[in-house]
Amino acid sequence: MVKNILISSALPDESVELIPRGFTVEIHRGSDPLPKAELIRRLAGRDGLVCQIVDAIDDEVLAAAPTLKVVANVAVGYNNIDVPAARRRGVVVTNTPDVLTETTADFTWALLLAAARRVVEADHYVRSGQWKKWEWGILWGMDIHGKTLGVLGFGRIGRAVARRALGFGMRVLYNDAVPAGADVERELRATYADRDTVLREADFVTVHTPLLPETRHLIDERALRQMKKTAIFVNAARGPVMDEAVLARALRERWIAGAGLDVFEEEPRINPALLDLPNVVLAPHIASASFDTRLAMASLAVRNCLAVLEGKPPLTPVP
Ligand code: GLV
Repeated sequence: MVKNILISSALPDESVELIPRGFTVEIHRGSDPLPKAELIRRLAGRDGLVCQIVDAIDDEVLAAAPTLKVVANVAVGYNNIDVPAARRRGVVVTNTPDVLTETTADFTWALLLAAARRVVEADHYVRSGQWKKWEWGILWGMDIHGKTLGVLGFGRIGRAVARRALGFGMRVLYNDAVPAGADVERELRATYADRDTVLREADFVTVHTPLLPETRHLIDERALRQMKKTAIFVNAARGPVMDEAVLARALRERWIAGAGLDVFEEEPRINPALLDLPNVVLAPHIASASFDTRLAMASLAVRNCLAVLEGKPPLTPVP
């Protein structure tokens, strides 16, 4: 039987070319995600789906696709997929860990550095013609070297972010449901602390937790009020990990000094209060968007899909 794959958005040619002759492939190349009804229609008779975080693969979608054997998400996060429902229906779910770890950590630091040293404000200052002479008093920001980095969620990406802090001579405090081993703590010079201590003592707080019921609004009013007035908050994980409205208030009322955000609660909608604030750097969910990494993610997702359809174990099934 010819195997039939739906790819829900355009991927690099090199990734699609991994699919051997003999498979039937449909690629949705539109710039918008497939609406749910259309996704369901196009999934009819498919064996595999390669999808993105904008595709909500819930039980209704899975129920309408009884021939589906694998859902390969082109992302490390998979909160867009009802994994228990997929398991119940015998559908394998895969994601793309590891290949994006370092790139996401790089971008986390881009946000941290930009927010601390006011890079976006400085760019605007120059472009808008406000820079008339050298000035002593303009655009002062926060030092990074020698400060304390607080990492909430100390998995692959959290650790890669912490590793970069070594170069800045920072102290690293972290919190995670499962503390890292002594060898990791030694290598990264990182110290486990309870969440309140991390929030209170860090100059930079960066979140790297998956979106789970227990991490939704982890950064709420209580958390933001515990942070230093000089603290900078960074989120390149998932928007709903923070209460965006409360964060906007915290930034406006200066409970904290600044933020760098790559993710939002209801993407692509951004809380309008954030758009007017100079002390937040905003990015459109691009932390893994380097040429090399996006290619690696797409290729891994395609390989996962193929493995399952060829009766082999997937390379990176979701845990
Ligand atoms: C991106 O957000 C990802 O989960 O890979």
